[in-house]
Amino acid sequence: MPILEIARLGHPGLRQRAAPVDELSNGLVTDLVADMQDTLINAGGIGLAAPQVGVPLRVVLFHVPPQRANGQRIEMTVLINPEIEPLGDTVTVEWEGCLSIPGLRGQVPRYERIGYRGLNPAGVLVEREASGLHARVVQHEVDHLNGVLYLERMKDCLSLSFEDQLHHVRALEEERSAP
Ligand code: NI
Repeated sequence: MPILEIARLGHPGLRQRAAPVDELSNGLVTDLVADMQDTLINAGGIGLAAPQVGVPLRVVLFHVPPQRANGQRIEMTVLINPEIEPLGDTVTVEWEGCLSIPGLRGQVPRYERIGYRGLNPAGVLVEREASGLHARVVQHEVDHLNGVLYLERMKDCLSLSFEDQLHHVRALEEERSAP
């Protein structure tokens, strides 16, 4: 399976609203999803949206490896035409990155708990509740379908940091929170 090129910040395709998938039976989405999955694993990410690989359709996939989320594991999941709704008002701020913005991390507020639904490539409805990193990655990927990047969700753009500099930021945070 080919590894697809991931669009990077500045590419206009990242700022467009993607169109719903209205035809699953022709196999095009199955092929797209297979290539996206290989691309995601190759890039070492946890989520990818079709617009990031130049396809303006409402298709996302994600997984949560247990080492990233305190033992919580979510197998690779494909959502076609996904919808999400917040469950409760709790918003948490955590570091987030994006394969389209390589090397950078920012502190992004997201709903702690959401419900989501969408179709899998076989056309079967997938409906779940999610919290923590699982809820975060789904919100991040669905944002991509609406042309929204995490940068514009950030409340304080000064937290934007290169990944290899995060240890400085964390040391400062610890200093500030010390009694
Ligand atoms: Ni992203």
